[in-house]
Amino acid sequence: MCGIVGYIGNNDSKEILLNGLEKLEYRGYDSAGIAVMNDKGVTVFKEKGRIADLRAIVDENVFAQTGIGHTRWATHGVPSKVNAHPHQSASGRFTLVHNGVIENYSGLMREYLQDVAFNSDTDTEVVVQLIEKFVNEGLDVEEAFRKTLSLLKGSYAIAMIDAENDQTIYVAKNKSPLLVGIGDNFNVVASDAMAMLQVTNQFIELMDKEMVIVTKENVTIKKLDGQVVERKPYTAEVDASDIEKGTYPHYMLKEIDEQPLVMRKIIQAYQNEAGELTIDQEIIDAMNQSDRVYIIACGTSYHAGLVGKQFIERMAKIPVEVHVASEFNYNMPLLSEKPLFIFISQSGETADSRAVLVSVKELGYKSLTITNVPGSTLSREADYTLLLHAGPEIAVASTKAYTAQIAVLAILANVTAKSRGIDLDFDLVKELGIVANAMETLCDSKEEFEKIASEYLTFTRNCFFIGRSVDYYVGLEGALKLKEISYIQAEGFAGGELKHGTIALIEDGTPVIALATQENVNLSIRGNVKEVVARGANPCIISMKGLEDEEDRFVLPEVHELLTPLVSVIPLQLIAYYAALHRECDVDKPRNLAKSVTVE
Ligand code: F6R
Repeated sequence: MCGIVGYIGNNDSKEILLNGLEKLEYRGYDSAGIAVMNDKGVTVFKEKGRIADLRAIVDENVFAQTGIGHTRWATHGVPSKVNAHPHQSASGRFTLVHNGVIENYSGLMREYLQDVAFNSDTDTEVVVQLIEKFVNEGLDVEEAFRKTLSLLKGSYAIAMIDAENDQTIYVAKNKSPLLVGIGDNFNVVASDAMAMLQVTNQFIELMDKEMVIVTKENVTIKKLDGQVVERKPYTAEVDASDIEKGTYPHYMLKEIDEQPLVMRKIIQAYQNEAGELTIDQEIIDAMNQSDRVYIIACGTSYHAGLVGKQFIERMAKIPVEVHVASEFNYNMPLLSEKPLFIFISQSGETADSRAVLVSVKELGYKSLTITNVPGSTLSREADYTLLLHAGPEIAVASTKAYTAQIAVLAILANVTAKSRGIDLDFDLVKELGIVANAMETLCDSKEEFEKIASEYLTFTRNCFFIGRSVDYYVGLEGALKLKEISYIQAEGFAGGELKHGTIALIEDGTPVIALATQENVNLSIRGNVKEVVARGANPCIISMKGLEDEEDRFVLPEVHELLTPLVSVIPLQLIAYYAALHRECDVDKPRNLAKSVTVE
């Protein structure tokens, strides 16, 4: 989704801003722009399309030590040069970039800005026009900025410059992420630390409804009532090299290959000196005090939650419900007496999940966030956090975060079970080690999955994934991976459900990818495969060693029956990757999608 950068210092800001925007490209965007300022005024460059297109129109000869930049993912108004940020006030004095959604923008336009001619269709332009209006009415810039913020409803991360003062960037945040980075004689602004790791690893978190006056020497955080807030910077743990592709053609392939290593890192991170798995006692107490766990998440993280439900119910014997975040707030189920909420989110910034967190906090319930990003909004605002230790995930299609989420959920269920005196007949550390080795074997079998992709998916317009029990959940994830990056219409179904309607879609040659990793449903899923084959489907059965049959296309190395999703998803990730590649799709940046979905 949208990204923000800003720089104020002694160097030329253009290159720093453009490099920063490039680091945010993975989040998904459709246009981009920068505004740079020196003592002669402000120059804006913006373009629809990629940062490379923007780079091509930036005038090399402009030297400016202050600037702001933006990548836009359209919400209000089509993707276009006009709607791209930065936006300027009517006189051109104020220039602003914004992430988020101003929900009351049309009301504000009617009430305050009847006489102003708007240039764009965006909600953002209201903000910059309001600031100018209040300055024209006699407020100083800081007062006008503050007054405008107090009128806004919705989410925003904002950076603004004033053509009459090239020594300041005005910054504000509510619900959308924003950080201020600290340097030696310069300071920066970024919606994601990654954008500015090129110049600093020291960042200050901003809280909702705070504004910041940033100069090259100082950062002054204030609440909207003007009260100054002191906050120390933290060191961003991300290594700049973690976000490079290295020799890989795509981040997605790199991240698929990283999964065995991530498993090993997780085992290490959650082991104590005696080699036992361990989790903060407060979290285990919260699990044990709850009579029902509610897992809240979106997309791939929701699919990981479905697998997590199996772990928590089977190992720890606590009932679990899994909900799509965007539905939960509007259709809240009858809650149990002592619920515990678990939020699963790679980014820790997903607005739909955050909206649920805000609601359940208001109701006084405890919450745990499982995330890849320390210090993210969902992590800060929940009572407890468990980290994924997966390293930055850059490709829009989530891969290593999914398996990391499942592994952390397995550890949580396992440690909770032990704390309840439940005897488990397997050693999870050993089993996760076996999983890591099996993942490695699968990552070494890429040619096989490339062949499957070209055989089954090169010319098809649709594809079905079927499975039973936990294989059904992995099928949902396989379908999501395939559709989001290859644009093939793909759906996952419970094997037994097809004959209740969907089987009508099966035609000669329709690819049906079936997972068979569970002994108790092995025969029934094979029965479902026969049903679709009888109607012309082209089946691709992926089974597990010990359950294989001669009709199977690929046999996975054997792992513990509960942990099969950690390995069965890898062929599906790779098949989706190669299908997208064969169709010449932009694997890492699929159309219309954003990495971190910060609007509801
Ligand atoms: C799909 C994908 C998305 C995310 C979803 C939630 O590959 O990445 O479906 O899983 O947008 O994002 P997080 O996990 O950051 O809350």
